[in-house]
Amino acid sequence: LADQGSEFWIFGYGSLIWKPPPHFDRRIPGWVTGYVRRFWQASQDHRGTPEAPGRVVTLIERSYWESLTDHHDKPPDKVWGVAYRIIPERVAEVKEYLDIREINGYTIHYTPFYPAPDVDSAQLPNGSREPFKTLVYIGTPDNDQFVGPQDPQGLAEHIYRSEGPSGLNRDYLWGLERALNELSPESGDDHVTDLANRVRAIAEKEGKAAEVLAGL
Ligand code: BEZ
Repeated sequence: LADQGSEFWIFGYGSLIWKPPPHFDRRIPGWVTGYVRRFWQASQDHRGTPEAPGRVVTLIERSYWESLTDHHDKPPDKVWGVAYRIIPERVAEVKEYLDIREINGYTIHYTPFYPAPDVDSAQLPNGSREPFKTLVYIGTPDNDQFVGPQDPQGLAEHIYRSEGPSGLNRDYLWGLERALNELSPESGDDHVTDLANRVRAIAEKEGKAAEVLAGL
């Protein structure tokens, strides 16, 4: 790992990609390894409600994922996302805030982050292209909100009809798809794209049904 001194970096693989944390001064595209991104975490506070939780992404350890039956096969080796550097003067404050913040079953973990090859090395810890340590929020299989493998069409329908204080669950899914596509030509994730396509098909069908009903 690169020597990063007292620099503090956070890795985002979900909404953090397009909704940055407070007090950051650098945003670097790249990836982590050893995980699989899946819509396997229930959301009661952002994209759903306690009565009707939505579905958001978490990271599954690859070795655990391999022990499961998942309908989406062959995940990419890299989980693309972005690393944010917290402004040095605000690190203590942000750490304190992160430690006390309860986020719907997610817990704090640390993982090496690999910067994308086209990132200017002046932006990186110690000017080095080596991987460096990042904080990451993960909803592990032992948390109450962990859902686990789901039938892709059932999951798409669930996302289509869910909504919470942060907005429509489908906007989170499509927002993630768009944000990933903007990171790099290689940063797509089949699990995300497949769900986004299924939800688009549902939306189109529902839209047509609404038109038919409106004409009656
Ligand atoms: C993320 O984007 O990495 C993330 C955001 C909220 C909770 C957990 C992870």
